[in-house]
Amino acid sequence: MKNIAIFASGAGSNAQKIIDHFRNSDKGRVAVILCNKPGAGVLDIAQREGIPAVLIEKDKFLHSDTYIALLQQYQTNLVVLAGFLWKIPGNLVKAFPGRIINIHPALLPKFGGKGMYGHFVHEAVIAAGETESGITIHYVNEKYDDGETILQERCIITKDDTPETVAHKVQALEHQWFPVIVERLLSK
Ligand code: GAR
Repeated sequence: MKNIAIFASGAGSNAQKIIDHFRNSDKGRVAVILCNKPGAGVLDIAQREGIPAVLIEKDKFLHSDTYIALLQQYQTNLVVLAGFLWKIPGNLVKAFPGRIINIHPALLPKFGGKGMYGHFVHEAVIAAGETESGITIHYVNEKYDDGETILQERCIITKDDTPETVAHKVQALEHQWFPVIVERLLSK
């Protein structure tokens, strides 16, 4: 049984899909959820699911090995960023080489980087007149949205689409693919 640690700070819909996917699995389980935002929806999910949740303190996150020790304590095999907006510090990247992944709601390298998250991404995609968007699942390094791509999946954008309808299409792709890719990587 492999252990997944999820970092999330939003509603947690992707975290929920991953939890559901592994609920009756013998391949892996969500062992712990780390969150940097008090009151985030993902904390309610953790509580309802009986999964330990830890609120991240920024200073300790940036300037100590506190959370590396925590992840080791949970014998973490894979760290999954599911709507986590802080850059991952170098010590954490080094402690889990090739074992931290992120999902981004666009086709990187377009529409990535600091400040490009959630609706900002979809607004930028519409403003640029793109005819497609999608998701990127990638390994995490010390730069925003920069590590090697694991999977991209696409959706069509029509002239009738709005940031909201694009968000909907992209979220459907996230929910379809993220748990599958997590499972694939656990067996590597
Ligand atoms: C997801 O759409 C994810 O791709 C995005 O945050 C959302 C979290 O939703 N991540 C980023 O924008 C990272 N730059 P959720 O809390 O419902 O899973």
